[in-house]
Amino acid sequence: MNFADSEILASILKDKYNTTDNYAEADLILVNTCSIRDHAEQRVFNRLKEFTALKKRRLGMKVGLVGCMAERLKEELLQSGLDIDLVVGPDAYRNLPHLLEEVESGQKGIDVLLSTDETYQDIEPVRLGSNHVSAFISIMRGCQNFCAYCVVPYTRGKERSRDARTIVNEAGNLFRQGYKEVTLLGQNVNSYHAGGGNFAALMARVASVDPSLRVRFSTSHPKDLSDELIETIASYPNICKAVHLPVQSGSSAMLAKMKRKYDRKWYLDRIAAIRARIPDCGISTDIIAGFCGETEEDHRQTLSLMREVGYDAAFMFKYSERPGTFASKNYPDDIPEEVKLRRLNEIIQLQQELSLESNRKDVGKNFEILVEGVSKKNDAQYFGRNSQNKVVVFDNPCLSDGKRQVAVGDYVTAKVESCTPATLLGRLADKA
Ligand code: 5AD
Ligand code: SF4
Repeated sequence: MNFADSEILASILKDKYNTTDNYAEADLILVNTCSIRDHAEQRVFNRLKEFTALKKRRLGMKVGLVGCMAERLKEELLQSGLDIDLVVGPDAYRNLPHLLEEVESGQKGIDVLLSTDETYQDIEPVRLGSNHVSAFISIMRGCQNFCAYCVVPYTRGKERSRDARTIVNEAGNLFRQGYKEVTLLGQNVNSYHAGGGNFAALMARVASVDPSLRVRFSTSHPKDLSDELIETIASYPNICKAVHLPVQSGSSAMLAKMKRKYDRKWYLDRIAAIRARIPDCGISTDIIAGFCGETEEDHRQTLSLMREVGYDAAFMFKYSERPGTFASKNYPDDIPEEVKLRRLNEIIQLQQELSLESNRKDVGKNFEILVEGVSKKNDAQYFGRNSQNKVVVFDNPCLSDGKRQVAVGDYVTAKVESCTPATLLGRLADKA
């Protein structure tokens, strides 16, 4: 989400600023921040120290803090002893040019008003991703699920959906510019609703832009992953067969405490519904270890659910108490740090095994992959992803004219020959 928001920021400022890859030569640095865990915030404070040191050497350079931390900490940031010129919340980006004028005249610029209708829907983002193959499209903002542990509803405000026509237009424009894949983004895309249309209907419209435009989405909440959406994913070949479905915990008692609005049985039923209709679907999740009051038995339930689902991938975190949330006000953060860490490590270890198991099943199979770039380790190897969102690395030999056999942005078929827990290693079969 923040990456997509940075593209909106770049667009709002494009008349005044170009972007640069080298922050040491920047006139303005905007740090787009995340408040989801304390660790994310600490990293931002470290970066800010670096930037404010640079500021002393580069007269006139401005530093702004934008996004969720700006929203959460507000004026506190300007009194923090760090040399920050601007503090701008996620719904106030249109006000940036004006705030920058205030900064030019020697004041601090601050705007942390949340909005009930801002979606930036008319703003064509400046694409900061370099591969020109895959792009994000933000389809909604905010969240009002109020999971007990989560700060997002406080920093990003009420849920609101962007008009479908503007989303389909953006996808069409990207396709005409040569993009081959779009990812529709929101905190909870399945509750997308605009002009009478739901998320399944929106997906169908975006998938109809062109059969060679891949469509992905992130992220969905298990409580409203509908059969209709599963059916839509199944029926369009260009909607990728990958669902990210954050479970958070495998224990129904923890899920109730987390205010997730589903239990273990409901979640497993949704997984069964996906597998029944889309047997080859990639399934990934988010897990929190050590939430308030979590017992060893609750933790074992998480491990057993992970085995039962057989996730292809997972993002795994230690619980981090966030000020202002329901959990912070009502439950003690009572799992000792070393217990959280041990449980997290067990979860990570298990996921490594599950990922390897899942990847081993793919050895010998052919996949259509969209080539996304050159491998970091070896420039004779390229990589792309299959529909299930797995990364496939393959040799891409030079031809006699000096060109590589396939180019970034091509659809190719690769046969998987071996794997690691993180990657499939394949061989080019032919050019699709
Ligand atoms: N502590 C740890 N992890 C969290 N997440 C959200 N809030 C917290 C928190 N307070 C995780 C959830 C969510 C992902 C984006 O971040 O797993 O799905
Ligand atoms: Fe946070 Fe829950 Fe909303 Fe996800 S659905 S952003 S975890 S409150």
